[in-house]
Amino acid sequence: MAQLWGGRFTKETDQLVYQFNASISFDKRFYAQDIRGSIAHVMMLARQGILTDGEKEKIVEGLEGILSDVENGRLEITDQYEDIHSFVEATLIDRIGEPGKKLHTGRSRNDQVALDMKLYARDEVHILNQLVKELLEAILAVMEEHVDTYMPGFTHLQKAQPVTLAHHMGAYFEMFSRDHERLNDIYRRMDTCPLGSGALAGTTYPLDRDYTAGLLGFNGPTRNSMDGVSDRDYLLEILSALSIMMMHLSRFSEEVIIWNSNEYQFVEIDDAYSTGSSIMPQKKNPDIAELVRGKTGRVYGALQALLVAMKGIPLAYNKDMQEDKEWSFDAVDTAKGCLALFTGMLRTMHFKKERMEESAKHGFTNATDAADYLVNRGVAFRDAHGIVGRLVLLCIEKDVALDELPLEEYRKISPVFEEDIYEAISMAACVNKRITAGAPGRAAMEAEIAACRKYLGEY
Ligand code: ARG
Repeated sequence: MAQLWGGRFTKETDQLVYQFNASISFDKRFYAQDIRGSIAHVMMLARQGILTDGEKEKIVEGLEGILSDVENGRLEITDQYEDIHSFVEATLIDRIGEPGKKLHTGRSRNDQVALDMKLYARDEVHILNQLVKELLEAILAVMEEHVDTYMPGFTHLQKAQPVTLAHHMGAYFEMFSRDHERLNDIYRRMDTCPLGSGALAGTTYPLDRDYTAGLLGFNGPTRNSMDGVSDRDYLLEILSALSIMMMHLSRFSEEVIIWNSNEYQFVEIDDAYSTGSSIMPQKKNPDIAELVRGKTGRVYGALQALLVAMKGIPLAYNKDMQEDKEWSFDAVDTAKGCLALFTGMLRTMHFKKERMEESAKHGFTNATDAADYLVNRGVAFRDAHGIVGRLVLLCIEKDVALDELPLEEYRKISPVFEEDIYEAISMAACVNKRITAGAPGRAAMEAEIAACRKYLGEY
């Protein structure tokens, strides 16, 4: 057991209490952020004349040595320390002696951990945004290739009207681009540095908080020291944004699972991204998509857990807040893993163009267009709706698609139909007449794709 405190204690900490209290098993993951924060703090202390330049140099050199030794495996972070802050400080004192004892001047673990967590979260937001970008690029690649791949658009999971695969994918592009925007918004709001908040009430040392904030790349220091040490809103915001993003990934996964089913066969997941069954030799299962759908629950759970943990905490720091870490780490790791795997699955997925188009035709997705055909020739929409309804019924009886029904059958139901009905209800015509902004028609789709390209160019 190695602790930073103990002066006012007359007894050793109970072993179970020590273990219950310790966080090193999980907070060791932000050793680099902890050291980065300490270096900035020490630079500022020397600049303010609180430490000598000689002390500063020894401390910075010591901290850099610890960083590189941990990184290349020469120094192991062991559970014998209470938390990562204790580990770094104790190791520093071990290595450089007296000056190491001055590292913690004008600082508390409360503002230290608040800083470390923010630095960690900022780093992760960058990585998450990069992964979202890669997913958006994979989606855009499918869009560009499938402007003419017709497929049924669904409502209530019933075939509704024809769309294209490009259009369907475009909807996901929108969702994930909003996820990116949300992460950026959060980043902007969390861009304040808590270092210098002290335990809760600032310090009596003449710290220069603007300087440390600048060194660490923040927009400025936090405005209120009590808030500085006890704000975890940015984690809640990240967990909320990740929950929404996972919901998007989960919906997409659900579609891949449906599309990959024997009944649909719209797609084939690449062998590298599917798994087999131990008993049924014919099986090729969409496990990755299923796992992404399943893991969404973990991220929602993390958000819920942190919301509940925070709701009863009086100002300022309380140990409950240590619980922010494992949930945040798990949610961020889960989201990163899901993004990377989903992107890989999408990039390698084979889309079955003919099968999708057949499905659109046999689902009467062109029925609205057949009614519009009549309307354009003077039939009232309500009557046209009834006429096409009877045609659909006839097609169902004969087990044919609308474009397979002979013209005389059409004319028996309404003499308004002419030979050009077949052209009017072709998938290409149905889709390409829809050119209002945001619609699947080629002209609208090309504008949408150009906008998506531009978006990624400015990402
Ligand atoms: N491990 C603690 C946490 O994660 C560090 C802060 C400890 N502060 C304290 N006053 N005990 O929150």
